[in-house]
Amino acid sequence: MLDFAIDLAYRAGTLIRAGAERDVSYEPKQYADVVTEVDRASEALIVGAIRARYPDHAIIAEEGSGVSMSSPYTWLIDPLDGTLNFLHGLPIFCVSIALLAYNEPLLGVVYDPMRNELFYAERGRGAFLNGRRLRVSQTPTLARSLLSSGLPYDRFEQPDNNLAELTHLAMLVQDIRRPGSAAIDLCAVAAGRTDGHWELGLKPWDVGAGGLIALEAGATVTDWQGEPWRPLGGDRLVATNGLIHAELLAALAEVRRQRSLKLS
Ligand code: IPD
Ligand code: CA
Ligand code: CA
Repeated sequence: MLDFAIDLAYRAGTLIRAGAERDVSYEPKQYADVVTEVDRASEALIVGAIRARYPDHAIIAEEGSGVSMSSPYTWLIDPLDGTLNFLHGLPIFCVSIALLAYNEPLLGVVYDPMRNELFYAERGRGAFLNGRRLRVSQTPTLARSLLSSGLPYDRFEQPDNNLAELTHLAMLVQDIRRPGSAAIDLCAVAAGRTDGHWELGLKPWDVGAGGLIALEAGATVTDWQGEPWRPLGGDRLVATNGLIHAELLAALAEVRRQRSLKLS
């Protein structure tokens, strides 16, 4: 099934790379979110292939062409993660494919077609980038860390929108990035390119594959309370090299303490 998922990721990635070289049509979704013809074409390719090969597997896919059924196996498909980057011509986007068995991650594949970087992991078997084993960084403190994060599309209406956390963390770390693809952000933690990522407002397809790839590279991956990450659990995630995890959780908790003080 890993080989199958990798082949799909390469095929979808080729389609996405071709789309990046021409004008594509798109429609608004909600808030700042959009969907392009390439998101839809990539999803049709992936979902069509899974349905043909594994007709008894459930599929959760971002653009709505999934199949719900009772099955031990569930695929999580983000046909194009980083759609706004794609639309603007900023080459930070990917396709993300995960497979769960009994709701636990079994395998994950993230393919960045612009860098030709294939990240993949199988539970218990390590994480790899183009065949090379991945390990998280050794950065020991938050103060020396390069982190990434994200902003939810509904931030205009949602007061709990990560802006307070970004402001607070910006004063505690070496620096913060907002690359715009949660799947690539998690692979960057896995590869030791960044030391940690935190975000809220995430969907299972954003993090299903990247979360497993980070875990298998030695990352600590939890929710904001420090409970183990579960792909179909809540919308909040913290993934770090482990060494800075407690410090990052404490910083997030401190912001929430201050916010509830302010709100009361
Ligand atoms: C988005 C990206 C972004 C994250 C958003 C996601 P999309 O996915 O992963 O980094 O901050 O929450 O929705 O819409 O480009 O597939
Ligand atoms: Ca997407
Ligand atoms: Ca996404």
